[in-house]
Parts: sequence; structure tokens; C-alpha cells
Amino acid sequence: MSDLRSLLQDLDSLVPDCEARLGQASSLSDLEEVRVEFLGRKGRLAKIMSGLPALSKEEKPAAGKKANEVKTALTEKIEDRQAAVERAAVLESLSRFDPTMPGRKPQEGSLHPVTLAMDEICDVFIGLGFEVVTGPEVENDWYNFEALNIPPEHPARDMQDTLYVSDSILLRTHTSPLQVRTMLEKKPPVAVIAPGKVYRRDSDITHTPMFHQIEGLLVDKNVSMADLRGTLTAFVRQLFGSKTDVRFRPSFFPFTEPSAEVDISCVMCGGKGTVDGKPCRVCKQTGWVEILGCGMVDPNVLGSVDYDAEKYSGFAFGLGIERVAMLKYGIGDLRMFFENDIRFLEQFA
Ligand code: DAH
Repeated sequence: MSDLRSLLQDLDSLVPDCEARLGQASSLSDLEEVRVEFLGRKGRLAKIMSGLPALSKEEKPAAGKKANEVKTALTEKIEDRQAAVERAAVLESLSRFDPTMPGRKPQEGSLHPVTLAMDEICDVFIGLGFEVVTGPEVENDWYNFEALNIPPEHPARDMQDTLYVSDSILLRTHTSPLQVRTMLEKKPPVAVIAPGKVYRRDSDITHTPMFHQIEGLLVDKNVSMADLRGTLTAFVRQLFGSKTDVRFRPSFFPFTEPSAEVDISCVMCGGKGTVDGKPCRVCKQTGWVEILGCGMVDPNVLGSVDYDAEKYSGFAFGLGIERVAMLKYGIGDLRMFFENDIRFLEQFA
């Protein structure tokens, strides 16, 4: 038998041999073994083709052509078998799939309690006819202090430890600059609330360097302290319930005159000072908790935005949102708001 004929016969035998081996292959790794055995670098096809150099120049093309045909056939058969094995694996896994099994609930996010409190406070004031405004957290000294009747040498600046960006640029220490920004933009009557982040150089159990406030401002003709009292009482009762008592205590803020701090009857003990005979830890037995600062807009502030203080008067107030959220949701520790412990946060879903 010539070398060519025996080489062609050997090549021909590869296809049925491979088919037989594929018939027994049932996994992807079995198939890989078959592929290596027939098509690998040291496989049967390669071994047969190592006889090629012994052939004459005229015989070589026929051998090469056959080798290509066989290689294509082998590749196709292995790939077909592979597709069949993969399909069988899918069908097998589907046969184990139980469509009646209860699904796994996707984890749902929720709004942060500070956001919830902020939204709720805003909703109450929107209902009272106030408009929501916002302003920059990186603020000019003039808006944050000077225009609010807090000149550079004013001792009130000691009340707030400020984070300065430069001599005249700072991170706002309160939302009160929105009073100034609003009045520079609009003519009276104005009724706005301004929620947002504020920053102070302060960090301990009851202070965080960033926290949230809402500022309120109403300016019109004939606005009096009675309007302030009525507005804040309505607000407090909507937020904490109609039985909540409200008390105004005289206080001082440079941008309001007169100024007051507002206390509400303790949300924990209802103003009794005790819970089940034990001292109330929220109001420390006083029956009252402080929730905001307020007052009548100081004529100097109206002057710095060119409002006619003879014609117009107004009231302003500022409250800490974390404080409201703590009282409203019964949270005992300010730090919980910023630790982002999922077990804490998911309770507000
Ligand atoms: N800006 C004050 C603070 O951060 C809060 C405040 C008090 C705002 C009285 C006011 C106000 O508008 O009238 O402590």
C-alpha cells in the first residue's frame, strides 16, 4: 500500500472513531478530552500528519486537502455534541426548578430618617403657604454673618465655630443666610422655608460637624409676634400632635429682636416629667423640650437688604432637623444618623 493511501485511510478512520468516543461523552470535560485526543497538538490528526514529509510533492496536496476536511468534520461533530450536552444540562437544572417555591425578596432601600423628618416639616409649612428655597453650603461671610447683624467683632460669632475656606468664604454655620438671599431676590410679601446642611467645628456625643436645619422667614406689612406664635403652634401641633403644648422663652439672636426659644411639651412623658414613675430621660423631668429658635426680624437685617423697616416687619425661625427626628422617632443618640447601620436605617422603610 502506498504511503498516501494508508495516510488517507488513517484520516478517514478518525471521523467514525471520534463519533464513537463522542457517543460516550456526557460532560464538558469528557468532550475536552475527546478534542485533545483528536485535534490536540499531539493528537491523532497531528500524529497522522507527521507522515506528510515522507510523501512525494505530487501526493502532498491530496493529503493536505483530506486533512482539512477531516479537521472540519471533527470540529463540527465535537461542537454539535457540546451544544447537546449544554442543552441537556439546562433541561436537567430546569427539571429541578420548583416554580411554586416562594421567591427571595429583593432588598429595598428607604429614605433616611433625616430626609423623612425634613420632608414632613416642609410639607407642614408648604400647607401653611410657605415656599421652599435652597442656597449654597459654601457661603460668603457677608450672607452668613454680616448681613445678619453679626459684624466681625460681634461676640455672637463665638457662638458658632466656623469652618473657613478662606478669609471671607466659609461653610455656612446655619441656614439663616437664606433669609438674606431671599430678601435680596424678592420683594415682600415673602414666606419661605430653607432646608439644608450646615457645618460647624464641633464633634462630640451631641454634636456632629455637619447637620441639618430648616430656616423660616415671613415678611409682610403688619407681621407681629402673634403671627409667629400662631404659625409655630400650628406647625408643632401638626408635627407632634394636637395635644402638644408650646411655650416661648425669651432668648437672644443677633438677627431677631425680640428673640425666643420655643419648647414643646415633652413627647416622651407628655409633660409630666416622669414615665411609669421614673424620671423622664428625654426632658430630664422638666416636662419641656426645646425645638427651635425664632424672633422678629431685626430692623438691621431688613436694612441690609434694603427692605423698608418702617413699612415691613417679619418673623424668622430656625430648627435642627436631627433634633426633630430624634424626638419624633424616639432616637436616643445623634450618632445613629451618621453611622449608616443598615439595621437602624431599615426600620424607617
Ligand atoms: N441660626 C440659628 C442657629 O443656627 C437658629 C435661628 C434662631 C434661626 C433664631 C432664626 C432665628 O431664624 O430667628 O442657631
